Amino acid sequence: MDKQFWRTKSIDQLLADAEQPEHRLKKTLGWLSLTALGIGAIIGTGIFVVTGTAAAGQVLPYSSLFQAPLLDVLMHGAHAMNANGRPGAGPAIALSFLLVAIVCGFSGLCYAELASMIPIAGSAYTYTYATLGELIAWIIGWDLILEYAVSNMAVAVGFSGYIKSLFETYGIHIPDSLSTPAYTPGMGGWALHFNFIGFFIVMALTVLLVVGIRESSGANNVMVGVKLVAIMIFIIAAAHYIRPINYHPYFPNGWQGVLTGGAIVFFSYIGFDSVSTAAEECKNPKRDLPIGIMISLGVCAIFYVGVAVVLTGIQPWRSLDNDAPVANALHAIGLNRVERWVDVGALMGMISSLLVYQYGQARVWFAMSRDGLLPPAFSAVHKRFRTPHVATWIAGIFVGIPAGIFDIGTLVNLSNIGTLFAFMLVAIAVLVLRKRQPDRPRGFSIPWSPWTPILSLAMCLVLMASLTVENWVRFFVWLVIGLFIYLWYGRKHSGLADANIRQR
Ligand code: ALA
Repeated sequence: MDKQFWRTKSIDQLLADAEQPEHRLKKTLGWLSLTALGIGAIIGTGIFVVTGTAAAGQVLPYSSLFQAPLLDVLMHGAHAMNANGRPGAGPAIALSFLLVAIVCGFSGLCYAELASMIPIAGSAYTYTYATLGELIAWIIGWDLILEYAVSNMAVAVGFSGYIKSLFETYGIHIPDSLSTPAYTPGMGGWALHFNFIGFFIVMALTVLLVVGIRESSGANNVMVGVKLVAIMIFIIAAAHYIRPINYHPYFPNGWQGVLTGGAIVFFSYIGFDSVSTAAEECKNPKRDLPIGIMISLGVCAIFYVGVAVVLTGIQPWRSLDNDAPVANALHAIGLNRVERWVDVGALMGMISSLLVYQYGQARVWFAMSRDGLLPPAFSAVHKRFRTPHVATWIAGIFVGIPAGIFDIGTLVNLSNIGTLFAFMLVAIAVLVLRKRQPDRPRGFSIPWSPWTPILSLAMCLVLMASLTVENWVRFFVWLVIGLFIYLWYGRKHSGLADANIRQR
């Protein structure tokens, strides 16, 4: 096998590169801003949209093995096709949220250790470059683009749906041709539509990000506050309407329902890892990164379980399979004013989530370009604003246009599989670094290693296997395209191809 595929960048080299004046980013973030950044990324469309689908499930027979979860196909072979598709978790969706919080908690610990050791923009991409070699680093960088870009496409589509429903409450109807996707599988395929609202919000936030982190981080803090208050209002106001009968049966589809629900609601936790993409802009990354990641994850887990318990308590779980389950459940129990508040909070949630993902995505492209794996324009820093403006614009267009074209379901599942794969590689990176560089200072050390990273790896694999074969195929197609780009461009232009740069 070609040696260059396995060349690694030394951690000292990574730290030195980041200090070069033409690539240096402004250091303005403390732990509170990082926590806000994390919550901003985590709470987005997921809690407001996928909670209902995951609780109610979709009782459809699979039309081909392609649509069955990989785990089912592995366990039952062709018989998997006879099963019914996606059983809902029912009221036990609260347990799915708890389970996934634990999975993410383990991954969060892995991220925290690496981020406190290698506080460089680029997150999992940078960690794998220092541990598993250039080819794997490229794969993970390419995969992170999938996580950040595709999940943001999904959030932008969700945003458009909520804007539409908010306007409806004031009697204003936005035409479908400007607010729904051009392509909807199973609904007639292509139509002459473009989700202009989804496209517009992504481009508006791109401008904000180009102007600078200080401004956009301030705006993010306000939006995080608004959405947390809105969720709290939902929990407190609706809790009085819980009817214990709705909790029976609690496990309508047993643990399989809880697992399948978990693989879907996993989407609602994506985002805590993006805190580590801001490592280079932190004032004290060693202390603040682990704190930021763990607090933002913990806060969101508490809010999510609260929403799940209340939502399944006020409405029968089967009725929750719709585009805006939280708002519709409020409507059903007559809390119309609260519903409007929740609509506004949901929109704020989506804006801050979009903001952090566009931010993180541009930094991954920035880091890959600085290493020579992408053209130099991606790592250009704006003279006045000190932001990676070219990468930010490209990320905006790359997300905005597909957000106008595709539907939310397809985007959510694709994003989940890419993210789970990134989490797995991060756990492997922790194990490799523990073995190869046991004495390197770690601001934060993961407890009970190697068991914690191994457990993290196994749990991610189980969730990935709960996704459909179709998703696995799409994911591999994406990786193969990435591999071609690497072979054609990155391999030759890599900074490590230059003999002057010492390897490890
Ligand atoms: N976690 C983010 C959301 O729920 C992606 O929208």
